[in-house]
Formats: sequence, C-alpha cells, structure tokens
Amino acid sequence: MLAILATDMTSGEETEKFFSPWRKKARKVFEAFGWLAVLLLIFVLMSSLFDRVGFMINAFSQEVANPEAVFNAFDIRYFQHFVTVWSHLILGFIVLVCAPFQFIPAVRKHWISFHRWNGRVWLICGAITAFTGAFIGIVWPFTGHQGFGLVQSAINALIGPYILFCLYKAYSNIRARNFGAHREFMIRSFALMLGVGTQRVLTTIIIPLTGLGLESLFGPAMGLGMVINILVSEAWIQLTRTPGNGNRHWRDLDTV
Ligand code: HEM
Repeated sequence: MLAILATDMTSGEETEKFFSPWRKKARKVFEAFGWLAVLLLIFVLMSSLFDRVGFMINAFSQEVANPEAVFNAFDIRYFQHFVTVWSHLILGFIVLVCAPFQFIPAVRKHWISFHRWNGRVWLICGAITAFTGAFIGIVWPFTGHQGFGLVQSAINALIGPYILFCLYKAYSNIRARNFGAHREFMIRSFALMLGVGTQRVLTTIIIPLTGLGLESLFGPAMGLGMVINILVSEAWIQLTRTPGNGNRHWRDLDTV
C-alpha cells in the first residue's frame, strides 16, 4: 500500500513537473536552438570532411617517394593509414546524412520502415566511425604519445568506448521496445559524434584569440567539445523525459 502511494506520488510529481508551463516553453525554445546548433555542427563537420577528402585525393594523385619530406606531422598519418582514414571519412559522412532524419517526428510517423533501415545504417556506420576515430586518436596522435598527444589519446580512449556503449544501449533498448530509453541513447550518441564538430568550433575561436597552436589545443578542445555536448544533450533529455515509463514522446503530450 505504502509502495503504491509512493509510486503514485512520484508519478504525480513527475507529471506536474513535466507539464509546468515554463518547461513547456523551454522545450519549444530549446528545440529551435537545438536544431540550429545541430545544423551548424553538421555544416562544420561536412566542411572539414570535404577539406580532408580533398587532401586525400590530392595526396594520392602525386608520386610520393619520401612522405616525411612532403607532409607535415599532422597530414602524414592520413597518408600512411589511408584505409582507417577513408573508413572514418566515408562512414562519418553517412552518419551526418542519416542522423538528422531520425529525429524528425513526421519521418518516424509516416515512414517507419525508412526510420528502421536508416537507424540500422546509422548504428553500423556510427560504430565504425567512432571506432576508427578513437583508434586514430589513441594510436596515432599527431604530437606522439607524450604531453598533449597523451591527452588526445586519453580523451579518445574514454570517448570512443562511451559512444559504442551508447549505440549498443540504443539498439538493445529498441529491441526490448523501451522507446524512451532508445531515444535517449540515440540523442547521446549523436551529441557525442557532433562533439568533434564542437571541438572544431572551439579551435577556430581559441587559436586566433590566444595564439596557441593546434598541437596544444587539439586534445583539450576535443575534451571540452565532448563535455559541452554531453551537458547540453543531458539537459535536453531531462527536459523532454516523459512521466511514467518514458515511452510516450514529449511532443505528443505537449500538444494535448
Ligand atoms: C560524424 C562523425 C565524424 C566526422 C564527420 C568526422 C570527421 C573527421 C575528419 C574530417 C577528420 C580529419 C581531421 C580534419 O581534417 O579535421 C577526422 C579525424 C579524426 N576524428 Fe573524426 N569525425 C567524426 C567522428 C569522430 C568521433 C566520434 C571521434 C572520436 C571517437 C573522432 C575522432 C577523430 C580523431 C581522433 C581524428 C584524428 C585527429 C588527428 O588528426 O589527430 N571522429 N574526423
């Protein structure tokens, strides 16, 4: 009896909190700014992706007898480890194209089989992108395994497995028909992927402001980019988690 009362109270409190007018308003504002930020980060990542693809095409269209003489410490790893790099770039591109559709309610509502197939493609490409990205960062940091290179390795060793964990939880939860938890882990994994975009925004702002080099900023900016995206995505998850088992979508409840 006591347990039932406690459950009722909790769900009553949860419901009241969820439907409070300021939270409803906050969801609207957050959603609009969230989409703007997502589109900006996709644009940033696409730009650096095409830039790197241009570099790869250029690098392999010339005769290179001595790579050390031709490329700097940053670029040479891309030339030497081209299979890992191409996998990272191509599958990263697919992730960026597939991911936004998964968060559009009309797509889920009207084209559910597209949502399922697109989701599978994203999970597989996302896992390989995270694995190859973390692999490059851990094994071949461009300043070597000391000082800031070690920071880059350590951050990738934390982030890579965490992204894989989030992708796995997203998959296992949807298999168990836990829609709310599935949604939350998909948001987390996408936010982490976009963390590398936030890193690039940070380096673009901080380098001219401070005069620091990419060698010292690359690792710390990646860590900071990930922390920012994790905090923002957790705030969004808290704001939109629906009462009860969380399986109903916040938008459906807001329009009631
Ligand atoms: C949508 C996903 C992603 C895209 C589009 C993407 C894109 C890129 C691009 C273009 C580069 C080449 C470096 C540059 O020219 O700026 C790169 C390198 C790299 N990426 Fe990603 N990436 C993605 C996801 C990730 C994730 C999830 C991680 C972390 C686990 C990661 C870690 C790295 C690392 C460590 C490098 C090498 C940096 C270096 O040169 O030392 N990437 N990525």
